[in-house]
Amino acid sequence: MNIIVANTSHFKYAQIICDTIAASAKVRGTGIAKRTPEYIRKKLENGNAVIALDNDTFAGFCYIEVWGHEKYVANSGLIVHPDYRSKGLAKQIKVCIFKLSQEKFPEAKIFGITTGLPVMKINYELGYKPVTFSELTDDPEFWKGCQTCKNFDVLTRTEQKMCLCTGMLYDPATKSKKKEKKINGKAFKRLKSIKESLFLKRKK
Ligand SMILES: CC(C)(COP(=O)(O)OP(=O)(O)OC[C@H]1O[C@@H](n2cnc3c(N)ncnc32)[C@H](O)[C@@H]1OP(=O)(O)O)[C@@H](O)C(=O)NCCC(=O)NCCS
Repeated sequence: MNIIVANTSHFKYAQIICDTIAASAKVRGTGIAKRTPEYIRKKLENGNAVIALDNDTFAGFCYIEVWGHEKYVANSGLIVHPDYRSKGLAKQIKVCIFKLSQEKFPEAKIFGITTGLPVMKINYELGYKPVTFSELTDDPEFWKGCQTCKNFDVLTRTEQKMCLCTGMLYDPATKSKKKEKKINGKAFKRLKSIKESLFLKRKK
């Protein structure tokens, strides 16, 4: 398995990346920000993405988004092809994109929003902390990305204060020693179900 910083030679994978993201979102039945092949190609062109290839076969991907005049960056669009899941690949891709983010944007806070336990686990181990949305970028372009998520009405209803996703932030100013602690998966699942009952039942 090759996990590398992607470039223009990987343009041919833009479509399969988008298709895999869309198919996974459908299976999970969760919200997701939509990506186009053009958008992915821009990331490849700018050296702001990591791709995992098994010889020539697409296995996984993640990219960097820059917000608030480089004060914040997000590691987004993490996807591992179903054939390559549960082998630790997402973790390796996240480590690689996290290092790339720090090299390219050393001053930036690195953040993400997610409903997924695997991503929460990986982020936590990398030194991210769960935070309220007020700690994240207020760049309207970032939040516009949520418009294609099926839970966007929740975000609007709460005036962007909270949603089903949990915000997580790595602040380079408070760089801590490598975390040995693992995330409490039970607590996260409980938080998720509380949020779901708070936000989703009101729709009825
Ligand atoms: C989420 C995803 C990227 C995980 O990829 P993966 O390569 O299977 O993940 P890893 O094998 O690196 O696992 C990372 C951690 O998450 C855990 N994990 C993986 N899948 C899990 C699941 N379905 N439920 C709970 N935990 C899970 C692993 O056990 C591991 O934790 P550990 O270190 O404590 O053992 C992959 O399932 C995927 O592409 N899903 C669809 C897209 C998606 O959800 N992207 C994230 C958007 S925020």
